[in-house]
Amino acid sequence: MHRFFDRLIAGQARWARPLGDFNHRWLHALFRPMLPVRDLLNGRWLGHPLHSVLTDAPIGILFLVIVLDVLGQPVAADVALFVGILTMLASAVTGAADYSDTDGAARERATVHSTLMVIALLVYIASLVMRIGGGEGAGDPDRTAAIWVSIIAFGILIAGAYVGGAVVYSLGNMVSRHAFRGSGTKWIALEPAELDGAGDIPEGRPVKGKLGINAVALVRQGDVVLAVHDQCAHAGGPLSDGTLRGDGVIECPWHGSRFRLADGHVVRGPSVHDQPAYEVRRTEAGGWEARRRPA
Ligand code: FES
Repeated sequence: MHRFFDRLIAGQARWARPLGDFNHRWLHALFRPMLPVRDLLNGRWLGHPLHSVLTDAPIGILFLVIVLDVLGQPVAADVALFVGILTMLASAVTGAADYSDTDGAARERATVHSTLMVIALLVYIASLVMRIGGGEGAGDPDRTAAIWVSIIAFGILIAGAYVGGAVVYSLGNMVSRHAFRGSGTKWIALEPAELDGAGDIPEGRPVKGKLGINAVALVRQGDVVLAVHDQCAHAGGPLSDGTLRGDGVIECPWHGSRFRLADGHVVRGPSVHDQPAYEVRRTEAGGWEARRRPA
């Protein structure tokens, strides 16, 4: 059955791709002047995407609306519906921050997800307006219609949640790219991809290096060589193509996440995850070796 849903979602690319590109442009322009706000909404301070925390609230509350309607508790159901709409809005704001830094298939699926959620929100608002305007009796025809409208909205909400889940679990959006990486601390031979005229690692800019099966981004500062994993924790951007910022920080070329070279700690999103960092030392033979720093 999931293959049918996958094909159905993938089939929306014709409209989702241009709409996603359009949304990406205005969301990017919106968040660029207020990056600390985007960081807050991404959840960097929490070390976890904030959107996935908040989305549990509307789904639970809006399911409760159906239960309260079935039990004939109109006032409680209407209050729950109002609160559910507020939590949907809060979830939408955090989701927009994550959405502004998606690419390719993740952006397309996130567009389908957000479109379904906006439709669900509008249908819920319509139900709330009908409830406010209608009577309160269980048999009131206006209220019965409003209840059915909110049940339809819940169906759209669940469809949107399914697509949102696929964006995370199938495409790995906002998941740490290093989730399955081992944390062994054995010294391993390090091979820089390029050397300067003196046979040293070039200074003042990131250089790619090979460390066993891993690629690392190396930065030499005098005699000290700092290293973090080359693949950005956010979406895999190459940090060796990134930019050095002040205070020993490297910026990813794809969406601008910043990591401290000394320990890999994320200092600016959209990544909410730290980057594996490595100690580097000279070998007696004149080469280099490195090992993973403990987290
Ligand atoms: S890949 Fe997105 S910030 Fe690095």
